[in-house]
Amino acid sequence: MGNCLTIVGLQWGDEGKGKVTDLLARDAHVVARYQGGANAGHTVVVGGRKVVLHQVPSGALNPGATCVIGPAVVVDPATLLDELDELARLGIPVGPDRLAISASAHAVMPYHKALDVLRERARGDSRIGTTGRGIGPTYEDLFGRSGIRLVDLCDPDALRARLEALLPERNALLEYHGGSAFDADELVDQFRVAGERLRPCLRDTGAVIHQALRDGRRVLFESAQGTMLDILHGTYPFVTSSLTTAPAAFPLSGLGVPPRHEVLGVLKAYLTRVGAGPFPTEDHGELGSRLRERGGEYGATTGRPRRCGHLDLPSLRYAIRLNGATGLALMKMDVLTGLPVRVCTAFDLRGQRLREVPPALYGDPDLVPVLEEWPSWDEDLAGCRTLESLPPMAREFVQRLGIELDVPVRLVSTGSDRESTAVINDPWG
Ligand code: IMP
Repeated sequence: MGNCLTIVGLQWGDEGKGKVTDLLARDAHVVARYQGGANAGHTVVVGGRKVVLHQVPSGALNPGATCVIGPAVVVDPATLLDELDELARLGIPVGPDRLAISASAHAVMPYHKALDVLRERARGDSRIGTTGRGIGPTYEDLFGRSGIRLVDLCDPDALRARLEALLPERNALLEYHGGSAFDADELVDQFRVAGERLRPCLRDTGAVIHQALRDGRRVLFESAQGTMLDILHGTYPFVTSSLTTAPAAFPLSGLGVPPRHEVLGVLKAYLTRVGAGPFPTEDHGELGSRLRERGGEYGATTGRPRRCGHLDLPSLRYAIRLNGATGLALMKMDVLTGLPVRVCTAFDLRGQRLREVPPALYGDPDLVPVLEEWPSWDEDLAGCRTLESLPPMAREFVQRLGIELDVPVRLVSTGSDRESTAVINDPWG
C-alpha cells in the first residue's frame, strides 16, 4: 500500500470521518482538508474530551503532523482563528510551523453568510436546509471570479478596492432579500487582524504536498460532507456547493497525487441526513427515534436533529464506484446493539429491481426500498479490537456487508473514542 490515503464519506456526511481521520493521522506526516468549509463539524474525542473542528483538519491532534488547508476549501477566518485559539488552550498549538493554508483559498465573507440565510428563508418550503455558513454564496463568487482570497485579506488597500467593486452588486442582492448592505471600510477593518494572523500560514499548499510525497512521507486527504451531498453526483439540489468525492483531492497538488491511491470510504452502520431532500430509507417510526437518541444524531455544526434510517446498499455501491474506494470504515456499529438491523439491499422501480441507484432517482415516488432483516446482536461491543472478538452476529454483519459491497471492511468503530476500534486491516498497509 502507498503513502497516500484519502478519507471520504459515502453517505450524506456525518459518517464519522473525524474519528477515522484522527485515528489514521497518528501515522500521517501531512493531513490535508481539500473542500468544504465551516459547514463541516468533525467531532473528535481524545482522552474523554470532545473537540469539534469546523475548519482545522482533524489531523491537528497529532502534534507531529503538518495540517494543510487546500485551495478549494472556503475559509471562515474568524472560525478558523477561534479554533486555533481553542486548540492552543487545550495544549495543542497549531502555528505556522505546522499549518499551511493555500493563499488561493477563498474567504467566507459576512455578506456570504447573510445571503445564505436570507436565501434559505426565501426558498420557503423548498429550502435546502443549509448550515447557514455561507458555503453556497462563497463558491458562487469563487466560480464567478468575484471572490475574496485569503491572500487578498493581507493587503487592506487592495481589499478595499476589490470590495468597492464587488459590494454594490452583492448589497443589491441582500437588499432584494430584505437584508442590510455591507460597507467596504468596515469589512476592511474587520479583517485587518485576521489577515495579519493568517499571513504567516499562507503557502503554496500543492508544493507542500508534492514535496512530502516525493520524500516518501504519508499524506492523508481529509474530506468533509459526503458523496450524496456532492454538487455533481449527489441528490441535487439538496446538496452542498463543493465536490465531496475522493477525486476532488487531486487538484490540491495536481499530478503530484498519484491518480490511483488508497481511498477509505467511511459509512455509518445505519443512515442519517441533515437538511431537506429525498431519503428513501428514512425511518419515521420508533426505530428511527431510537437510532437518533442512541447515536446522538444531532448536527455538530447546527445542533439540528438528524433524520435517521436504514443502511442503503444501492447508494453505497454508487458512492464506492464514484470514489474508487479500496477499503471501508464501518462506524457506529455499537449503536445497533439490541436493535433490529434492517438493510436496504436494492430498490424496486416500476417492476425493475436496481442494485445501484443514482441519487437523481431518489425523488421518484415509485422508488421502493427492498428491506431485509439481517441478524442482530445484544452483546456489548465495548473492547472489541479485532474482527474475531466481535459477537458472532455482529461479525456476520461486517462480513456480509463486505461481500454485498465488494470492498473489504478495514475498520469497525465500536464506540466514540479512538481506542474503540477494531482494526481488521490497517488502511495504511
Ligand atoms: P451547506 O453546505 O451549508 O450549503 O448545506 C447544504 C446541505 O448540506 C444541507 O442539507 C446541509 O445540512 C448539508 N451539510 C453541509 N455540511 C454538512 C456536514 O458536514 N454534514 C452533514 N450535512 C452537511
